[in-house]
Amino acid sequence: MSTVSPDEAIAVAPTIRQTQLLIGGQWLDSVSGETFATIHPATEEKIADVAQANAEDVDLAVKAARKAFESGPWPKMDARDRGRLLNKLADLMEDNAEELAALETLDNGKPIGDARAADIPLAIDCFRYYAGWADKITGDTIPIRGDYFCYTRREPLGVCGQIIPWNFPVLMASWKWAPALAAGCTIVMKPAEQTPLSCLRMAELALEAGFPPGVINVVTGYGVTGAAIGKLPDVDKIAFTGSTETAQLIMADAAQTLKRTTLELGGKSPNIVFADCDIDAAIAGAEFGLFFNQGQCCCAGSRLFVEESIHEEFVKRLVARAQERKLGNPFDPATTQGPQIDADQFNKILDYIERGKNAGATCVTGGGREGDQGFFVQPTVFDNVSDDMDIATDEIFGPVLSIFPFRDIDEVIERANKTFYGLAAAVWTKDVSKAHRIAAAVRAGTVWINCYDVFDAAAPFGGFKMSGTGRELGEAALANYTELKTVTMNLG
Ligand code: NAI
Ligand code: MG
Repeated sequence: MSTVSPDEAIAVAPTIRQTQLLIGGQWLDSVSGETFATIHPATEEKIADVAQANAEDVDLAVKAARKAFESGPWPKMDARDRGRLLNKLADLMEDNAEELAALETLDNGKPIGDARAADIPLAIDCFRYYAGWADKITGDTIPIRGDYFCYTRREPLGVCGQIIPWNFPVLMASWKWAPALAAGCTIVMKPAEQTPLSCLRMAELALEAGFPPGVINVVTGYGVTGAAIGKLPDVDKIAFTGSTETAQLIMADAAQTLKRTTLELGGKSPNIVFADCDIDAAIAGAEFGLFFNQGQCCCAGSRLFVEESIHEEFVKRLVARAQERKLGNPFDPATTQGPQIDADQFNKILDYIERGKNAGATCVTGGGREGDQGFFVQPTVFDNVSDDMDIATDEIFGPVLSIFPFRDIDEVIERANKTFYGLAAAVWTKDVSKAHRIAAAVRAGTVWINCYDVFDAAAPFGGFKMSGTGRELGEAALANYTELKTVTMNLG
């Protein structure tokens, strides 16, 4: 595949000079007519004007979703037909995979190779996985005392507000849409203001697949648009991925009507390397675990604990790999690191780098901006980091790795758990019992042993502690989109 310029990428995306909102099966301008710009983070050039949905638009979208839930065919449709539509959407995404990958790279700045190899295929797989669940969401028959017949039904939860971030736009939309749709819910989605384009294209494909009007609604806008969804009593549930701070606001609003919430938030995940590991694999895993997606991963292995006896060699070799990363035009298939998403994130990351330097950590490579156009940050590694420095405790969400030497397993478990977060962790060792001891002791929703960032639609993902509530993916995610009803009949 040759290099595609941003202009060529725009050309493959038919709808994107000026976008609209999808409400009740219709593409509409926002009521106010307001728009905002989305930009290509590698060049800072505007790609398109995007309709700004305000409270009035959100209200219309929620009404459409409510109508589709109450009187539309969706929740009552034969579950096999719902599954068929999910598979149809997956097929259309596969037919348009190259366009979706290009849109993702254009709007987010991620390397096209990553979009092609990871984001788009994983999203397609997610729809196929939940297509299979649509007709397998069953209840139980329950033997209760007395002459009664008791059973449970798993019913669709209702209208779901879904608010997603910008780091994996297509993939995050698929994690939210697929289980909700399989369960028979209707959706009002707000993609991130930085990356609305691929979600809008998915919505077009969903209409083409034949999803009934109002089942999937998409409102684009900033945080206020998301907040407007969370304030409406007619919304039964909010599924959110993003920052812990925003999740706290959403939870407070949800409390007003006891909306169900699923929250998938940040992390400061420990990646623990023992001296008895396969060191080549661990170095590759440490690099990938942090630098993948420009460090913009909720589960980034941003605290790298390395056993003291191999610390020096490990740092040296990891730094060499970090320096080999290829920053540049994300449409060049050889590029391995693109720009950060926007000026806010870029400035936040550079500020953390300065704070790390000022606190006395050793910046062994990187440590600043790359080039003078776009939001590129050098792959940065800090050594001699102490546990209480800001770079050790806060989610940086960029290509900045902190390394900590450790002496023994008890010490590293205690230090790994010394965080408000609990999203993911990894351990590298050939000692099976050590690996499972770590897996049990670390308070995190996912533990990878001798691997990192292995995701599968069938495997649940989510956080302990302030990394969130609920689990996405797998059978577990269906519980987020169903209510359990107990039915008891007198047989006497
Ligand atoms: P954010 O949490 O503010 O934004 C995520 C989504 O929530 C976006 O769609 C945004 O428009 C929406 N939103 C913002 N305020 C809202 C509100 N009051 N009510 C409802 N929706 C609202 O995250 P942001 O500002 O993009 O990034 C800040 C930090 O959050 C990052 O530096 C990173 O540390 C973390 N983050 C974590 C992510 C993850 O995957 N867990 C993804 C993105 C950011
Ligand atoms: Mg924000």
